Amino acid sequence: MKQKVTVVGAGNVGATAAQRLAEKELCDVVLVDIIEGVPQGKSLDLTQAAPIEKHDAHLTGVNSYEASANSDIVIITAGIPRKPGMSRDDLLATNKGIIKSVTKEVIKYSPDAILIIVSNPLDAMCHVAMEESGFPKQRIIGMAGILDSARFRAFISMELSVSVESIHALVLGGHGDTMVPLPRFSTVAGVPITELIEANRIEEMVTRTRNGGAEIVSLLKTGSAYYAPASAAVEMAESILKDKKKILPCAAYLTGEYGISNLFVGVPVKLGSKGIEQIIELKLSAEEQQALNKSAAAVQELVDAMKKMG
Ligand code: NAI
Ligand code: 2OP
Repeated sequence: MKQKVTVVGAGNVGATAAQRLAEKELCDVVLVDIIEGVPQGKSLDLTQAAPIEKHDAHLTGVNSYEASANSDIVIITAGIPRKPGMSRDDLLATNKGIIKSVTKEVIKYSPDAILIIVSNPLDAMCHVAMEESGFPKQRIIGMAGILDSARFRAFISMELSVSVESIHALVLGGHGDTMVPLPRFSTVAGVPITELIEANRIEEMVTRTRNGGAEIVSLLKTGSAYYAPASAAVEMAESILKDKKKILPCAAYLTGEYGISNLFVGVPVKLGSKGIEQIIELKLSAEEQQALNKSAAAVQELVDAMKKMG
């Protein structure tokens, strides 16, 4: 039997994720949105592309959750995106309410699903989904690190004129301005970029990676990035659906790893059919650990702000 993935939010990220899931023929897809007609229209359009794209994934668009029943994975992209000048954190109050109500519906119909959270501010929204669902930490995973690392990889590829396929990069921490790109763990054919690129140039690329989302917002003016974010969410879904056990940077609920407790922060995890099957603890330098602590403190601030909102 084909597996099923529900994507909540049929906007830019959600619809693009649905398209990639279907075109990779990974699963059947249920697309949910509150706007009447939008998930139905986008699903029908994608269904009509199927004969040309040569896949047999079934796509269903709906405004309620019955059709999402027994999903293996639910990708939550519902919410509002950033406008120019806004930080991800400006979305906190609105998206908190949306993620709470969406999670409540999702778990009613798919109590065993693995949740992939995309909505911003990402790490804080993972907390909302965890609190509302009561799901174990293995089944709530935030998408950010793959996107941030892919941006870093793209910039390294542009710098060195090397195939993106030969480049690995790692960005840890929260999905915000304090995220932690790790040049020491970013390699071209296994060679750390610290041996290939001047330190000041690496610093510029690190800064561009940290501002990667804002750079796109300032160009688009009416929304935020969605092609790369959708690809990142689908890479997570694929590793879970196929039990590939890829090691990917994702927001995970830490209980002491990296010296951080009771907080969602981006770290390398092993993703398989059970969700997060292992948290990989890298040996960080004092400087790297300090940067991670600073990023975790920024996430904690948002979590505390949400507590005050009640
Ligand atoms: P969008 O505005 O294109 O789509 C959001 C969709 O959510 C809209 O169609 C809207 O009708 C729907 N929605 C709102 N409330 C809903 C509810 N209660 N139930 C169901 N659907 C609902 O926005 P886009 O670009 O798709 O971004 C979605 C979210 O993902 C934003 O919060 C954005 O900041 C975040 N994001 C996070 C990234 C990450 O790295 N974690 C990367 C890119 C986007
Ligand atoms: C991004 O990084 C907006 O979080 C989103 O593009």
